[in-house]
Amino acid sequence: MYASPSSSSSSKSIRFFGGESVRSLKANSKRLPRYAAALTAARFSARGTTIEEDEEKEEQMKDLRIDQKGIVSDAGVYETKEEKMFLKNAIQLKGGKNAFILGIETSCDDTACAIVTKSGHVVSEAIKSQVSIHENWGGVVPTLAKEAHQNAIDDVVEECLRKAGVTDVGEQVSAVAVTVGPGLSMCLRVGVRKAQKISGEYGIPIVPVHHMEAHCLVARVKEEEWNANSEEEEEEENGGVAKFPFVALLVSGGHNVLLKVEGVGRYTILGQTLDDAIGEAYDKTARLLGLPVGGGGGPALEKLAKEYEEIVLEPRREQCRKETEQEAHITDEVFEKIVRKKVKNPIRFTVPLRKRKTCDFSFAGLKTNVRLAIEKHLGAVVDESKPEQKVLPSENWDGIENRETRAAIAHAFQTAAVTHLEDRVSRALEWVESDGVSPTCLVVAGGVASNQKIRKKLLQIGANHSIDVVFPKPSWCTDNGVMVAWAGIERLNLALGVEKPVPRASEAFAKDEKDRDVQVRLKPRWPLGEMDERAIGEVKSSKVSKMARPLGSE
Ligand code: KG4
Ligand code: ZN
Repeated sequence: MYASPSSSSSSKSIRFFGGESVRSLKANSKRLPRYAAALTAARFSARGTTIEEDEEKEEQMKDLRIDQKGIVSDAGVYETKEEKMFLKNAIQLKGGKNAFILGIETSCDDTACAIVTKSGHVVSEAIKSQVSIHENWGGVVPTLAKEAHQNAIDDVVEECLRKAGVTDVGEQVSAVAVTVGPGLSMCLRVGVRKAQKISGEYGIPIVPVHHMEAHCLVARVKEEEWNANSEEEEEEENGGVAKFPFVALLVSGGHNVLLKVEGVGRYTILGQTLDDAIGEAYDKTARLLGLPVGGGGGPALEKLAKEYEEIVLEPRREQCRKETEQEAHITDEVFEKIVRKKVKNPIRFTVPLRKRKTCDFSFAGLKTNVRLAIEKHLGAVVDESKPEQKVLPSENWDGIENRETRAAIAHAFQTAAVTHLEDRVSRALEWVESDGVSPTCLVVAGGVASNQKIRKKLLQIGANHSIDVVFPKPSWCTDNGVMVAWAGIERLNLALGVEKPVPRASEAFAKDEKDRDVQVRLKPRWPLGEMDERAIGEVKSSKVSKMARPLGSE
């Protein structure tokens, strides 16, 4: 699937953070018009300044290059204008728009890595999921997750480099982006240590990445295949499908948030969950209903709810259509009510937070509804202290009576959950529009975004607001390396918070794992942005402590 990169002459023979290669760059600069052209293009496109100004900057850049040792030994962030310029040009010279950026993700239960070109083409991906490790525990077990990341990280990165045809990281990779938060700190640390190791060994900068920002920005990655030979093409504008500003809904097992996205690092939280994430609620409901939960209970629950639609509701709809043929004025909502009346003992759950006119979410009440319905209609007893339990044994699956009731509960849960999402997304779009911001699209990401019912309903909301709805492809919706590499690229392009290479002699190379501590700051609790002033959702108090300052406000 991936094109193997031809060895590009522009990425050969130049190292940016070693004294040797700096000399060779200077000595050869006259013989390398292509590099000069790249520099000029970068100066104009990036800043639109005069040649004189650029020549002055060029002089300063030379000093910076000569002062390589200083940069290498003095790890920190590229801060001054000159440093940022240096960084930009270094990447530009190293591979131009085909510069490779390596992304590493270990914040939760996927060890993932990818190489993406600076212009946003995915070159290679590798991932090791921990689903089978955690599925019997009713959630991610941090110590097991950390161990699994440690066991997988080298192989996953290696596989990714191999697929991309990288034989010399120092020559071919321009930067390493890594998730530093939010997430489980012991898991984040594994990815960051790996990034540091690569950074120190090969002298390449580190781009610390916010996991949720990565989820949002991946909607801007092009899905077409990368072609190494497209080097001579016109420089395209970065960013694929989703253009700023947009509204993003992130829905997964761990996230449930609505965001106004005005640019890289410019996020406002419109609403977030007050308790559980929707994926968590899907998983718990699926488990209680005795459904297979390997890889998350969402798909199994969606399937069962669909079965109820097809087997129970559709025939009744057919009947109602005939009966109400003459009544053209009936709305869809009224029609559905008539259909439900035809169902014996219908199970219905209240849509959460209907009275709260915000964009916050809550799924704890729905989980309670599910538990009570299982106890009432199926006679099972739910022990809340055992989150991993399956209340209904799977062997009973084919008992028809049970199956229909289980399907009814699954359907009732999904209907209320999806309506809840619809309510909040509609309001978020209204809020943003009333701010005078015209979103170009609605981005929906996270594992739950693959749910067909949710897609259909959100597409309708997009149509109501005359905007597109963008669903990144499923493997980029769940945790992955591409989103991290791409968020790194978006940050590199703006030279936002890029860290200088880790000193080679640092503890990144300590023999003992304990000594090899992180230099890049981990941010296990890290809000993506400030809360919108209309949002009144409180986050559980224990979660507020040790919170890093929101991204964009540092
Ligand atoms: O993004 P993801 O892979 O991992 C994190 O939680 O970070 O999302 C996994 C979640 C699980 O809770 C899974 O049940 C849910 O996404 N999910 C779905 C569907 N596919 C996955 N939920 C509802 N419907 C689906 N089709
Ligand atoms: Zn995630």
